[in-house]
Amino acid sequence: MSSLRRKTSDLKKRMRFALKGGGTKAIEKQKATGKMTARERIITLLDPKSFHEYDLFVEHAGRDFDMDKKYLPGDGVITGTGTLSGYPVCIYAQDFTVAGGSLGWMHAKKITKIMDQAMKLKVPLVGINDSGGARIQEGVNSLAGYGEIFYRNTLASGVIPQISVILGPCAGGAVYSPALTDFVFVVDKISKMFITGPEVIKATIGEEISMEDLGGAKVHAEITGNAHFYAESEQDCFNQIKQLVSYIPWNNEKKAESFPKRPPKTRNYKIEEIFPTNPRQPYDVRDIIKAVVDDSEFLEIQEYFAKNIVIGFSRLGGETVGIVANQPLVLAGVLDVDSSDKAARFIRFCDAFNIPLVTLVDLPGYLPGVDQEHAGVIRHGAKVLYAYSEATVPKITVILRKAYGGGYIAMCSHHLRSDFVLAWPTAEIAVMGPEGAANIIFRNEIKSAENPEEMRRQKIREYKEKFANPYVAAAYGYIDAVIDPSDTRKLLLHSLEVSANKKVERPAKKHGIPPF
Ligand code: HXC
Repeated sequence: MSSLRRKTSDLKKRMRFALKGGGTKAIEKQKATGKMTARERIITLLDPKSFHEYDLFVEHAGRDFDMDKKYLPGDGVITGTGTLSGYPVCIYAQDFTVAGGSLGWMHAKKITKIMDQAMKLKVPLVGINDSGGARIQEGVNSLAGYGEIFYRNTLASGVIPQISVILGPCAGGAVYSPALTDFVFVVDKISKMFITGPEVIKATIGEEISMEDLGGAKVHAEITGNAHFYAESEQDCFNQIKQLVSYIPWNNEKKAESFPKRPPKTRNYKIEEIFPTNPRQPYDVRDIIKAVVDDSEFLEIQEYFAKNIVIGFSRLGGETVGIVANQPLVLAGVLDVDSSDKAARFIRFCDAFNIPLVTLVDLPGYLPGVDQEHAGVIRHGAKVLYAYSEATVPKITVILRKAYGGGYIAMCSHHLRSDFVLAWPTAEIAVMGPEGAANIIFRNEIKSAENPEEMRRQKIREYKEKFANPYVAAAYGYIDAVIDPSDTRKLLLHSLEVSANKKVERPAKKHGIPPF
């Protein structure tokens, strides 16, 4: 046998050994819980035969607790490059079959190396998390590894899209890498995320809770808002990732890919049928979105969290747009602590990645109440003002119905430098709703009237006629055009077309100080 063939055969033997991961028993255990192995996950997610693995032969650096006698294939993480629906990506997947996917120093070095590569190549980073957390035997070196990852997540923020997929435990400080990334995907019954687990909680404060109820997929999709996408299965999750990637650019110097322009499915979504004649009646704003965007396609983000605001991606004229819309179906579409956080972060993502923003407005304002005040609605609400004001991408606002008080300003008004503010004739723009306003400014007349209830109704009517329309704001030029709702798509397309070369200078500074 020639030396070349001998060495190639030796390489293949070494590869076969390394590719066994944690061995048959550990793989069976992984499968029994409904999970794919790390390598299967990468291969299933990426385009066929596109994955090229790095650092297969990396060995762990643990020397204590007899770790020097152990062989951990690939040190429990698989890293490499590939393509995802044709888009180049850098990817890593923690291998739970190898020491529980725990993060030691060399495991962290593999991850940071692929992160550095993603930054150099300027392509999205996908991280699949399935790990028991810091490798206990490696002590402070494991913590150092996490620190190096968090630092890189932060530097990469706003430069390349970062996607985290939680497909197993993600516990302790490990949760902070996903938390620093742009999109977090969770899968029912598989994802578990928490800082301190049920046992620590029981030991320290006596509360008892299951892992699922503490940090399962539904908890993060509905309650905490830590997850952006919820899936029923790993395959469903991968399909969602592919959809997301089609809407976003590779990096902050590029635009998202253009697709052929397609009309909305107007047979299914007709504005005049969706939008109620009674101004007090709610409707699903997602149907309005579908009535105007290409192919009626809307990829909703954080669908189950803070449902009073709707965010997500669509296309107009084949180009990606980020949509922010109040949802009258839930809490009348108010802004509150959670919906402000949800909207603000999305606006900043779109701005960082050159995605124009379309804002649909219908809200009575910020949610009143002690809970909200004490939960910091001032601080959280300010994030929306900050994010819209800071954004320099094209910004188009359509006021559908209510735009009251702080809500009018916050939802990308002209004052926060929206480029085009359009209003439907049904728009109501005022300091506050007619009922509240009449009670305050006509208090004395109502009180002293022979029939106070009748007087109250009359004053509400008067107030509505005077202010609850778009024409007062239009008279000051705060609205660029009052439009026929059926022209909405046409005007959105036009606004995007004419703002293709928009350029805005901002004062020189190191960075702003948003109300985090
Ligand atoms: C070393 C670990 C490990 C860890 C799991 N393993 N977690 N090894 N360090 N953190 C090993 C186990 O010893 C076992 O090895 C194998 O992985 C599989 O683990 P099991 O416990 O058998 O699996 P399972 O029953 O499915 O339970 C999974 C688990 C549990 C819930 C994740 O392993 C667990 O609670 N692990 C510890 C989680 C944790 O507290 N992590 C926080 C660490 S501190 P063998 O050889 O038996 O197969 C931290 C701080 C970071 O992360 C701070 C950064 C800022």
